[in-house]
Amino acid sequence: MKRLRLSITGFGTVGQGLAELLSTKHALLQQEYNLDIILVSVANARSGFIYRENGLDIPAILELAAARRSLTAHPGVTHWENPLEGLRTTGGDILVEATPTNLHDAEPGISHIRIAISKGMHVVTANKGPGALAADELFALARQHGVQLRMESTVMAGTPVISTIREGMAGASVHALRGILNGTTNYILTAMAAGQSYGEALADAQARGYAETDPTADVEGFDAVAKTLILAALIFGRSLKPGDVIRQGVTTITREQVQQAIEQDNRIKLVASLRLLAGDARQEAALEARVAPVALPLSDPLARVDGVMNALTVSADTLSEVTIIGPGAGRAATGQGLLADIIACARGQV
Ligand code: HSE
Repeated sequence: MKRLRLSITGFGTVGQGLAELLSTKHALLQQEYNLDIILVSVANARSGFIYRENGLDIPAILELAAARRSLTAHPGVTHWENPLEGLRTTGGDILVEATPTNLHDAEPGISHIRIAISKGMHVVTANKGPGALAADELFALARQHGVQLRMESTVMAGTPVISTIREGMAGASVHALRGILNGTTNYILTAMAAGQSYGEALADAQARGYAETDPTADVEGFDAVAKTLILAALIFGRSLKPGDVIRQGVTTITREQVQQAIEQDNRIKLVASLRLLAGDARQEAALEARVAPVALPLSDPLARVDGVMNALTVSADTLSEVTIIGPGAGRAATGQGLLADIIACARGQV
């Protein structure tokens, strides 16, 4: 049995969702994957960093988090106010980074990731900031230290898009990606198509836990931009900046526009796209990146993806078009992406 010492930084919906899965799937992970995963440390903004060498009691820690009590109430833990110091001192086999996405400077997640990699830990992140703003630097650091950095759950949560393209479609030349990558805006546009107002639909999406801490990131398209930057780095090997992505959100879309599109057999969707433009022999092809509402004809597979569902259409030389549809947000769905990455780290896939 392979023993893995796991640390989780960020213990909100995503971190707790993973902890739940680690608990409910503990026997399956042992039986099917020969893995004994021990959660040795957890950090959140309220409590700082707690550590227990023999593993934390997951149901107990979930109860503390649900009751909004300090995690330091868990028996027998060592505590650091600063997660960086805790992580630097205690280490582990894998860091799961699940602090909220910050698209300005990627903190505090990027510092957690740098420390963990430098200590020889694999890193699995659901936090989009580090991958969107500093993929080049972090992957170089991971290579230097011989560890894996995986981020399946940053794009379409646990629906496997990154691994499907990189591993399942290995050898194919991808020339374009088009996707519905933000569940909140897709939920809003779907609800508006059914007659709801923008405000009602947004409140509903927030209540269901789909929206970012600040929903501006969703409705103005920044969340989809972050995912587009991650795909540009991981699928096309291009390091784009947020300003390189042409961006328009959904805040100016009216119920009338949505209804009018329906009358014309179209559906308005917030589409994120990456497309290699024709280059010439001397120059690398440019990569066009865009996030904007588009009226899609019903013949387009993305047009029929409704509610919180996400989808990505991959255009590649050998497969023409492949569309992957699945949940793009939510506690268990994001936890699933993290769990798959953890198992991949344990198997030694890069
Ligand atoms: N706020 C995001 C969404 C969550 O609505 O898709 C998942 O990244």
